[in-house]
Amino acid sequence: MRLLLTLIELLAFRPFRAILQLYIHFGPARFQKIRLGSELSEATLNEISRFRKTQYEGSQPYLIPDSPEAVTEENHLDLRSYHGIARDRSGNIIAVARFTPYPFETTRLLGAELTTPFREHLEISRVVTSKRRSGIGRRLLIQGGCFAISTKRYRGFVAVCKSGNLAIFEKFGLGTHGRHLIPGRPASPYHFISADFFRITVTTFAYTGRKFAHACSVILSPFL
Ligand SMILES: CC(C)(COP(=O)(O)OP(=O)(O)OC[C@H]1O[C@@H](n2cnc3c(N)ncnc32)[C@H](O)[C@@H]1OP(=O)(O)O)[C@@H](O)C(=O)NCCC(=O)NCCS
Repeated sequence: MRLLLTLIELLAFRPFRAILQLYIHFGPARFQKIRLGSELSEATLNEISRFRKTQYEGSQPYLIPDSPEAVTEENHLDLRSYHGIARDRSGNIIAVARFTPYPFETTRLLGAELTTPFREHLEISRVVTSKRRSGIGRRLLIQGGCFAISTKRYRGFVAVCKSGNLAIFEKFGLGTHGRHLIPGRPASPYHFISADFFRITVTTFAYTGRKFAHACSVILSPFL
């Protein structure tokens, strides 16, 4: 079984991730190398906070820290988390994502009992883009997955998401473990979702395969 998994990794998953890397960087957005918050400059961390504030202040104000304690907590979480950042050609941030090792923000919100079984996973949070439905969210999640797998330190992803966003994460193989009310978040209940990287890679493989086949059929249809 181990030999089979190694063969699948070498002959399928690794080339697939190489193709995904090409896909991520193919397009107008510039995707920065994913780094730990403590490796980023204070200016970049402030840029991320400002970008989140501009994106959340309308629809999700509860994701903007509103007290000195909340700001300290958010800064601490940002320093020990990995950050995905996409910029436009002028260098402006157009999307961000956060990948947090255990203990997660979800551990504070929903308790250790729910999250401890996933302590070797990374938590996805604060995924937001100013250019909706343009494939940037997809690329940021794929970049996060490729990065996390390449570290060989994590087993999968967890996250909490609203019912309305569940479909996005299901495209990458994440599935719900049930819904939870989160204190202070009006848009509750939230799904607690997770998947290991084998399932995420297989599902993303099928998902991108369908998109590739669809793109080919569109391109070839005039000639068929
Ligand atoms: C969630 C978010 C980051 C997705 O990024 P995006 O760039 O808009 O999404 P993409 O264009 O990459 O779309 C990826 C896929 O998800 C689908 N999708 C995007 N937004 C969706 C939504 N709100 N509901 C259902 N499906 C959605 C797209 O149709 C696409 O599907 P396809 O690949 O089959 O065509 C973005 O919509 C956003 O910033 N939302 C506000 C913040 C937020 O709610 N974040 C979610 C954290 S749980």
